[in-house]
Amino acid sequence: MPLATPPAPPIVRNAVTASGLWRAYGSGEAQVVALRDVSVAFASGAFTAIMGPSGSGKSTLMHCLAGLDTTDRGTVNIGDTVLTGLGDKALTKLRRDKIGFIFQQFNLLPTLTAEENILLPASIAGAKADPAWVNRVIATLDLSDRLSHKPTELSGGQQQRVACARALATRPDVVFADEPTGNLDTRSSAEVLGFLRKSVDDFGQTIVMVTHDPSAAAYADRVVFLADGQIVRDLHGPTADSVIDTMRDFENAVPLAGKAA
Ligand SMILES: Nc1ncnc2c1ncn2[C@@H]1O[C@H](COP(=O)(O)OP(=O)(O)OP(=O)(O)O)[C@@H](O)[C@H]1O
Ligand SMILES: [Mg+2]
Repeated sequence: MPLATPPAPPIVRNAVTASGLWRAYGSGEAQVVALRDVSVAFASGAFTAIMGPSGSGKSTLMHCLAGLDTTDRGTVNIGDTVLTGLGDKALTKLRRDKIGFIFQQFNLLPTLTAEENILLPASIAGAKADPAWVNRVIATLDLSDRLSHKPTELSGGQQQRVACARALATRPDVVFADEPTGNLDTRSSAEVLGFLRKSVDDFGQTIVMVTHDPSAAAYADRVVFLADGQIVRDLHGPTADSVIDTMRDFENAVPLAGKAA
């Protein structure tokens, strides 16, 4: 009888990989080193939160990963593409095709309707967003009856839901969100976080989100903690309590050696 083949181990594909990232601002005595040799990988189809004190380098890391800021040293891969070192044109194309971004301040264009804002990245890219997909995202975000409204006619929560729809409309490989619930009340936060969670569970979306809120981080599959430009903790299966405990631990934090994946 032939030997049974052992089951293949699950393949974890990384949507984003950063290796040895350094980023400093200014020079001489005024120099601030925002990232110090950060290596981290974000699995495809997972929801990861990034936490850490103010000034610890969270936004810098996200901007470097999304190609919105340059690095001094190190490499960033989006899937199989090396982002670092791409020329302006190729970088713009990569960002349009593969990356979505959600900002704390929503950043919707005020003269466009909700629907036009949602469809804008795809139309800039010269592509037509898949209407069935966009309709599904809009329905999931409960925005169907708000599509003709301008941003000023929408609540903060509704504006952020439009920004979520915009980020997902092109089906990017990864969505980066920098404190997406930082300007929202508890209920609107829960709606946005619930949607981000659902987009991972139902659509296989990859999400990397910066937050200061332990209960927001608890929506994620994993929390990476930064302190002083370095990764100091890597928590899988977080709860609000375990996130709070980890943050308390920061006083004595020692950087994790090697690569956090
Ligand atoms: N464009 C810039 N010019 C100079 N210094 C900068 C710049 N951007 C960030 N920094 C500095 O780099 C460090 C990291 O900043 P970053 O914005 O990444 O922190 P953060 O963790 O996102 O903080 P917060 O929680 O307050 O948003 C800080 O000391 C900040 O002052
Ligand atoms: Mg920040």
